[in-house]
Amino acid sequence: MPRRRVLRWSGGLMAAVVAPTGLVTAACSTSSGPSAASPARPSSAGAASPLPPVPPVPSVDGAGTPTLAATLGTRRSVRDFTDVPLTRAELGLLLWAAQGVTAANGHRTAPSAGALYALELYATTAEETLHYLPDGHRTEVWAERSVAPGLARATRQDPPGRAPTLVVVTVTPARLAGKYGGRAGRYADLEAGHATQNLLLQAVALGLGAVPIGSFDDGDVAAVLGLPEGEEPRYVVPVGHPR
Ligand SMILES: Cc1cc2nc3c(=O)[nH]c(=O)nc-3n(C[C@H](O)[C@H](O)[C@H](O)COP(=O)(O)O)c2cc1C
Repeated sequence: MPRRRVLRWSGGLMAAVVAPTGLVTAACSTSSGPSAASPARPSSAGAASPLPPVPPVPSVDGAGTPTLAATLGTRRSVRDFTDVPLTRAELGLLLWAAQGVTAANGHRTAPSAGALYALELYATTAEETLHYLPDGHRTEVWAERSVAPGLARATRQDPPGRAPTLVVVTVTPARLAGKYGGRAGRYADLEAGHATQNLLLQAVALGLGAVPIGSFDDGDVAAVLGLPEGEEPRYVVPVGHPR
């Protein structure tokens, strides 16, 4: 009998082709779950009316920075990485994209229910484990060692062990409970999704790759990181240079 319930991940494989117009066409093959060929839900009665075609999207703006549309159009989950470590500047931009402070009142890159900010971010490299402090855009040393091997074991998946950096996104629903009661857990999870998508898109913009891993043993991840009581992991995100 297995001691714990761990979900095995069986995601789909997708090959994306960016047409010269900037439009993206995709060939999907999924082992399970919905795909472009088998929509999650059939269209309801009434005829479906097509939207105007997506116009050609420039891949970079005037300053040579990738446009948001180009970044969205090329994001794919990446699970195979080179050994090249992330620079501290790259790590800083990833963490800032997820939870950076962008206003004098403390509001951040990602929305937050009631601006109560239910998230924490941790990043583990080959040498150390850091905790992000959005205020002042700083990191503190959370552990003077990598916790990547422990996180990899907690996911029972390959990519974490091979990425040079793993970012862990956690939620503390209790921060929202006073204002939102029974909806606190839901709102914390939604906030984690917003922040993680920001991080994934920033990775693309930096020429990096990442995958949001949601299948892991919560207790193991919490123990490996030494999370405080009431703080729960939601995503483990391996990030690195795509191989
Ligand atoms: C909630 C959630 C959980 C996920 N968990 C995993 C996971 O545990 N392992 C993994 O390899 N991918 C995971 N993924 C990534 C999906 O497999 C991936 O997004 C999907 O196959 C679509 O491919 P794309 O991201 O390249 O568009 C997860 C995605 C979401 C939204």
